[in-house]
Amino acid sequence: MEKEMEQQMGEIMAARKLISKYAHGFMESMALKCVVELGIVDILHKHTKPMTLQELASGLSLPTVDMNRFQRLMRFVVHYMGLFTLDNKNGTYGLTHCSQCLLQDGESFMPPMILHGITDWMIGPWYSLSKSIQGGPTPFEMYHGVNCWDYLASHPDENRMFNEGQAAITREIIGVIVRQYGSWLFEGIGSIVDVGGGNGAAAKKIVKKFPNIKCTVLDLPHVIRGNSEKSNSEVEWVEGDMFLSVPHADTILLKYILHDWGDDDCVKILQRCKEAIPSEGGKVIIVEMVVEINPAETDISTMLTTDMFMMVNTGGKERTKEEWEKLIRNAGFSKCKITPVLAIASVIEAYA
Ligand SMILES: C[S@@+](CC[C@H](N)C(=O)[O-])C[C@H]1O[C@@H](n2cnc3c(N)ncnc32)[C@H](O)[C@@H]1O
Repeated sequence: MEKEMEQQMGEIMAARKLISKYAHGFMESMALKCVVELGIVDILHKHTKPMTLQELASGLSLPTVDMNRFQRLMRFVVHYMGLFTLDNKNGTYGLTHCSQCLLQDGESFMPPMILHGITDWMIGPWYSLSKSIQGGPTPFEMYHGVNCWDYLASHPDENRMFNEGQAAITREIIGVIVRQYGSWLFEGIGSIVDVGGGNGAAAKKIVKKFPNIKCTVLDLPHVIRGNSEKSNSEVEWVEGDMFLSVPHADTILLKYILHDWGDDDCVKILQRCKEAIPSEGGKVIIVEMVVEINPAETDISTMLTTDMFMMVNTGGKERTKEEWEKLIRNAGFSKCKITPVLAIASVIEAYA
């Protein structure tokens, strides 16, 4: 009897510990962002060997450092999050595999994703999650009063950060696609329009590898006008609305566009794309997550979090293979082919 009670107590304590971890999950997000903002990983990486707290503090670009607060931050990210190692003998901090993902060398999309994703305007809408379960506007609209694209149109700094974050993810994903699948995916194509192409990160990668392809980026006026890097680029820029019309091309690229929208809107976008390509040989390349491709390899936690993100911020969703096939059929395409690339991105080719 006593043993049974002991076991029950143990289970209750374990459950409380788990709930407490969930309740304090925001601290992990904020500490992560703080580590990136302070550039702690970059300081350690540059130094090439573990550093004491004092050495790390001297590397921070801050006018003063409160050593007590800094030590407690480091204690949290070492012992709670496993971001750094701490050698207790000589008091030095070192990098782990985890913190190496946070290096701001332009290679990893994670630092820009953290800097642009963990912001008050992105987190605020989550306070409207429970209210949104009754239906109606997205939590983003409930919180901000406008949808996310209209919000970005009237907030230039947030717009710039959002587009930079997207571009960082895109450079990595399109880099893999162009390298590994480019020869059969893009070979022989004369022109591409990247619909909702943001800062043109995908278009620039494609043109670099295939200079004979004429690449055009279509996006909303505030995105095209807010892009400081568009002059002197080998890409053409068009301000427009993909729900109204899409410039003509051999191929249309839709990367991470359709997961922002519900099914009816996706069919409209796909129909505009179909009107823009030749009825013979034309295709639309969709780069998106396909939920159940390679179930063993698919990172289900990424799917679950991005799906929630879409539900809260854009009103879209992540889709299964069957859902993709149905959308493409409903938009009038004759056939489609799905190629898994990464856990977070597959290539879906829809043929006119
Ligand atoms: C999630 S971002 C993806 C950006 C880019 N394709 C990428 O993967 O990096 C969605 C893009 O769709 C654009 N967008 C939203 N509504 C649009 C519309 N009606 N017409 C054209 N672009 C639109 C946004 O401005 C944004 O650049």
